[in-house]
Amino acid sequence: MKLKIVKDSNPIMRKKSLPVDLPLSKQDKQLLDDMLEYLKLSQDDEYAKKHNITPGVGMAAIQVGVLKRMFVIYYQTNEGVVSYQLVNPKILETSVKKCALEAGEGCLSVPNPHEGLVHRYYKIKMQAFDALTNQDIIITAMGYDAIVLQHEYDHLEGKFYYDRINPLNPNGKMPGEELI
Ligand code: NI
Repeated sequence: MKLKIVKDSNPIMRKKSLPVDLPLSKQDKQLLDDMLEYLKLSQDDEYAKKHNITPGVGMAAIQVGVLKRMFVIYYQTNEGVVSYQLVNPKILETSVKKCALEAGEGCLSVPNPHEGLVHRYYKIKMQAFDALTNQDIIITAMGYDAIVLQHEYDHLEGKFYYDRINPLNPNGKMPGEELI
């Protein structure tokens, strides 16, 4: 595992990632595989401790220094594993309703914690090419699933989760916002 995580202090993280050529090159597919493997290993307590890495559920290519519109997701829920290798994702629809993680968000590229509610859409519809299943997909996601997708999508736009915390009222709920 040779991936080195780029931190938020690096100005490249503020750049907008560029569209990826399809069909996917071997190098791009390999990178997505490596990123997914990193996430899986990061969730293995023993491995994470030994290699001093933080557990993550999502990673965008820019977080390893590659300015391309693609990201991977991996986590387990009661309903099963959520895993994607999304390329050129587009947000097609967003709900009026907002939501936020009660405990706030974290990011592999952000070493210093930023406390506060990160305001997100409660529900989104996202279209992308999924390199894991090798097909175009449309994902309808709600709550936590929607938050993870929006967090990773933000990286493609050069944004961090803390940009969405209201500095004047970090823990203030928006009207109708659901805390998760
Ligand atoms: Ni992140």
